[in-house]
Amino acid sequence: MAARARGGYGTGRSIVLGPESSCDETAVALGTSDRQILAQRIASQDEAHRPFGGVVPELAARAHAERLAPMVETVLAEAGLTLADVDGIAATAGPGLIGGVMIGLVTGKALAMAADKPLIAVNHLEGHALSARLTDSSLEFPYLLLLVSGGHCQLLAVEGVGRFRRLATTIDDAVGVAFDASTEVMGLGFPGGPPVELAARGGDPRRFALPRPLLGTDEPHFSFAGLKSAVLRSWAALDAPGAQAQADMAASFQAAATDCLVDRTARAMAVAKGPLVVAGGVASNAHIRGALAGLAETHGRRFVAPPAWLCTDNAAMIAWAGVERLALGLVDGLDAPARARWPLDPDAAPARGAGVRA
Ligand code: KG4
Ligand code: ZN
Repeated sequence: MAARARGGYGTGRSIVLGPESSCDETAVALGTSDRQILAQRIASQDEAHRPFGGVVPELAARAHAERLAPMVETVLAEAGLTLADVDGIAATAGPGLIGGVMIGLVTGKALAMAADKPLIAVNHLEGHALSARLTDSSLEFPYLLLLVSGGHCQLLAVEGVGRFRRLATTIDDAVGVAFDASTEVMGLGFPGGPPVELAARGGDPRRFALPRPLLGTDEPHFSFAGLKSAVLRSWAALDAPGAQAQADMAASFQAAATDCLVDRTARAMAVAKGPLVVAGGVASNAHIRGALAGLAETHGRRFVAPPAWLCTDNAAMIAWAGVERLALGLVDGLDAPARARWPLDPDAAPARGAGVRA
């Protein structure tokens, strides 16, 4: 069992319990201020949602409600701890599917109240944003973050815990959505990213001439809707496409998406200091990581990417964000609201276009 010091923020080792249920993974982790994950569990709901080709919010919420409390008990038991041993409860309070967010936050509040521990209401995006600091103790603020997930595609200047300046966002779809849509049209299954990455390894990235929306423009933002529809159109135009066509389309799509990410990130490097960091589910893609590493090297910047398991949704990053906030005394009341939307930079100027992901 772990030794720890108690009493007062920022003194000694603290242990934070983090539940996460904002999308379709139910997860719980116990993280410490000296960057240990004492125990963690994650249950994917891919099987439940696969027949529908996407996450069904009601199914997700029901599964979270059934799994979360037993998972908290399992994780505590695995670490040989009880609730009395933890220093704070960090629950995801948004953004995400509101049913799941409410279940996670209410669970967190109940645990905090029952054990008389501070509640830390964590922004899921801040969990992704700080995840690289969990596995790289030398990563200091400020850094330039490319946050690429199923719901978001942003460039942020990360100046500290809770201190973000949004430099760019998508004016339509997130890059993860484009991965998911491409996989679906090619019949490669759900969720999207990993099958595209796998198929692309044996494909020709030049076979399909796909667009690179906003490449080279002065506007800082991303756009992926045009690329997504080009994949759908090019695929529909094929006569009885087989495995090689899948591989070539996956490679062509991945190359186009990567070019867009690299181009927009290069532009942001001119205005944001520090290492280049990538986070979020799409950051687990080895091709994209390689391209970003190359970009950073060209600019003489350090490149930091968390391990792949820490890029896709997990509770370790929520517990870690809780550790970071607790160390600064950033705790929340039991009236903390569940939020479907929760931008990291509430002062960011609105980007053009409908359906903007703040
Ligand atoms: O961060 P995440 O797990 O959940 C959200 O907060 O959205 O990101 C999920 C997204 C999905 O769109 C999924 O297709 C994508 O990350 N993804 C990938 C890979 N693994 C997951 N995209 C590209 N390549 C991958 N290997
Ligand atoms: Zn996420």
